[in-house]
Amino acid sequence: MKIRIKQKNEYSGDEYIITPVVGKKGVVELIKENPEVKNDIRKIDFKGNEGEKLLSGSGDKKLFLTGTGSPLNEDLTRKLSKNIITIVKEFRIRRSVIDGTEIEKYSDAVISNFFDYLLLNSYTFEKYFSNGNRFIPDSILILVNNKKKFIRILTESNKISEVVDYVRDLINEIPSVVTPDFIKKKALSLSENGNFEVEIFDHKRLKKEKLNGLLNVGTGSEHKPLLLKLSYTPPEFDKEVAIVGKGITYDSGGLNIKPGSHMSTMKSDMSGSAVALGVIDLVSMLNLPVKLISYLPLAENMPSERSYKPDDIITFRNGKSVEIINTDAEGRLVLADAIILASEEKPDFLIELSTLTGSIVAALGESFAGMFTKNKKLSKNLKAACDRTGEYLWEMPLYESYKTSIKSKVADLKNAGYGAASSIKAGLFLNEFSGSTPFAHLDIAGTAFIEKENEYLGTTGATGFGVRLLYNFLKSIS
Ligand code: BES
Ligand code: MN
Ligand code: ZN
Repeated sequence: MKIRIKQKNEYSGDEYIITPVVGKKGVVELIKENPEVKNDIRKIDFKGNEGEKLLSGSGDKKLFLTGTGSPLNEDLTRKLSKNIITIVKEFRIRRSVIDGTEIEKYSDAVISNFFDYLLLNSYTFEKYFSNGNRFIPDSILILVNNKKKFIRILTESNKISEVVDYVRDLINEIPSVVTPDFIKKKALSLSENGNFEVEIFDHKRLKKEKLNGLLNVGTGSEHKPLLLKLSYTPPEFDKEVAIVGKGITYDSGGLNIKPGSHMSTMKSDMSGSAVALGVIDLVSMLNLPVKLISYLPLAENMPSERSYKPDDIITFRNGKSVEIINTDAEGRLVLADAIILASEEKPDFLIELSTLTGSIVAALGESFAGMFTKNKKLSKNLKAACDRTGEYLWEMPLYESYKTSIKSKVADLKNAGYGAASSIKAGLFLNEFSGSTPFAHLDIAGTAFIEKENEYLGTTGATGFGVRLLYNFLKSIS
């Protein structure tokens, strides 16, 4: 879905125009311009508060009013966009027309959130329904006074939305389709049009490079593990950044098999990888002046006679050994490989995203991802980016004394059996593999895939959490 824009004075259609009304002051202005809606407004005592709706008028002056609360900020704008798309869906408006002249008065940040959340809320994953009658809006037209001001932001939003949509599709797609090989093919096809390179570490190469976390986690599956290294090098750049994204294409738990209620939705355990792929594609399409390498460690975590086992000890490429306590704590093992590889190239920043722990979901729910970092600059810049996009981060402590819980009796570290605060301890575990590289771990287990609608996103399933966040972060440091 794409948004188009038109000068308001050139619009002559007779569709309902969805009009945001910013608080009481907005109501007064609205009545001045459209006296015919006065009675309808009085009838329901429409005040322009957040979430209010009113259908009014006739002829070529048909309006759908929606309150925004006042004054409009980024947060209210996201809710406004959601409310607009709720109207579009409720009244099955295929071609919606929105009055953007109010939004036009606000900052670039408000305008881009307005576009982004219209597009995010329009997303649907419908390919597996047999009936073709489900409603999908097919265009959005926004009327403004000064088209020029919007064009730059809109072009960027439409591009971002294209990427977020295919990232969400990839996460929502069923696990018997999405295997390590499938993600490899997706990356190769994107790189044909895009501007980044794909290096494939197949099984043989994984062995040669001693990427033993991936090799062990992947042994139980008929689909062999892979690591993808995607690189984008612009002609000029100051900073070099690496992104690592967890790519477990299905997390059954392995021999420590998950109970059914915990297993469903585990197709989304490759969300980090999907985001790492989307971000490099986006950054390369929009030519950001920052060097970027995305690492995608891909494997399926399955039980079988060949599976790695509790009691196994894995020795990693950097010499560290890890005792396996639980094969369901597989993410940190494949991530350790990728983090070691990434930090060998000494990037300025290394950011890793993973649907890592159930404990972060218990702590922060589905509206915040946990951020774990010792680097002040990374934490500051990531937080600033999250406030701009609404993909919220909450900083968690990498408390040194908790490191005793990740020590093993028979190896350097263990992969589970940490006791309380296991998302913090998993963060400490990953930190052991990043060397001296400035490193941030984002635990997106709660935010990557939502089962209930949240206040900004009208759609359930994959959210694409992280694409806009990291894009904005990279833009801010480049
Ligand atoms: N992929 C899961 C974490 C997860 C849980 C993601 C819920 C999304 C929603 C991870 O691999 C896992 O199984 N973690 C376990 C580790 C435990 C067995 C030590 C957890 O956190 O419960
Ligand atoms: Mn697991
Ligand atoms: Zn997992």
